[in-house]
Amino acid sequence: MGILDRHKVLEKNATLLLVGSFLVVSIGGIVEIAPLFYLQNTIETVEGVRPYTPLELTGRDIYVREGCYVCHSQMIRPMRDEVERYGHYSLAAESMYDHPFQWGSKRTGPDLARVGGRYSDEWHVAHLTNPQSVVPESVMPKYGFLANDLIHPTYVADLMKTHRAVGVPYTDEMIASASADFMVQDDPNGDTTDFLARYPKAVVANFDGQAGISEMDALIAYLQVLGTMVDFSTFVPDPSR
Ligand code: HEC
Repeated sequence: MGILDRHKVLEKNATLLLVGSFLVVSIGGIVEIAPLFYLQNTIETVEGVRPYTPLELTGRDIYVREGCYVCHSQMIRPMRDEVERYGHYSLAAESMYDHPFQWGSKRTGPDLARVGGRYSDEWHVAHLTNPQSVVPESVMPKYGFLANDLIHPTYVADLMKTHRAVGVPYTDEMIASASADFMVQDDPNGDTTDFLARYPKAVVANFDGQAGISEMDALIAYLQVLGTMVDFSTFVPDPSR
């Protein structure tokens, strides 16, 4: 009896085929999943990735609240068309401090994983206020009301503590200076020395151009940091992974 004849036995017996399929799928599953239990860490550490500043973290909450993820992904896949359009594919480390992550599953608008620094703050204000004013065919809703909602850093230290509880390495110093850091990031004339030591390369600006800190300020601070933490001119993937 040749091997193909023996296979006929399997094909003609539904129960035997089911048991056989189950065995094959189980072996495949174990080979894929078991090593994950023995690895210390499945996320490669990458230079430059830091926790969000208090203002960026607040902006991120507004992004989640407004459901921006319903139309925007933050996950550039390692395929040529995506990399040419959006830049270097997303690294796991780039969303390691995102709770919950914002990878998304729908692209009505473009991917935002590397939108930071691509447009000026003024562009973002104009675009969020009335997307059709800068992209006439846009179907994105208007978010101008965010500029009217002034916000205060009352709860930002609590927000950071919550993120620390799920693994974001906020230090006691970062939490103690949360309110001051929140304010100074929106003030180009402030003393940002300590702030920038805590959050290297953070963008300091009066994002929405008006007095006071608005939800628009926080959201733009968040958009401007997306995808900018890792320096891809010097980044080398770890070949052992
Ligand atoms: C109904 C779907 C929808 C929602 C919700 C939405 N957007 Fe958009 N967004 C779009 C579309 C479509 C575009 C492309 C046209 C344009 O630039 O307006 C876009 C473009 C953008 C761009 C420019 C990206 C680029 O690379 O050119 C940014 C930034 C942006 N959106 C941010 C946001 C933020 C922040 C929110 C939440 C406050 C949001 N969007 C909510 C549909 C949406």
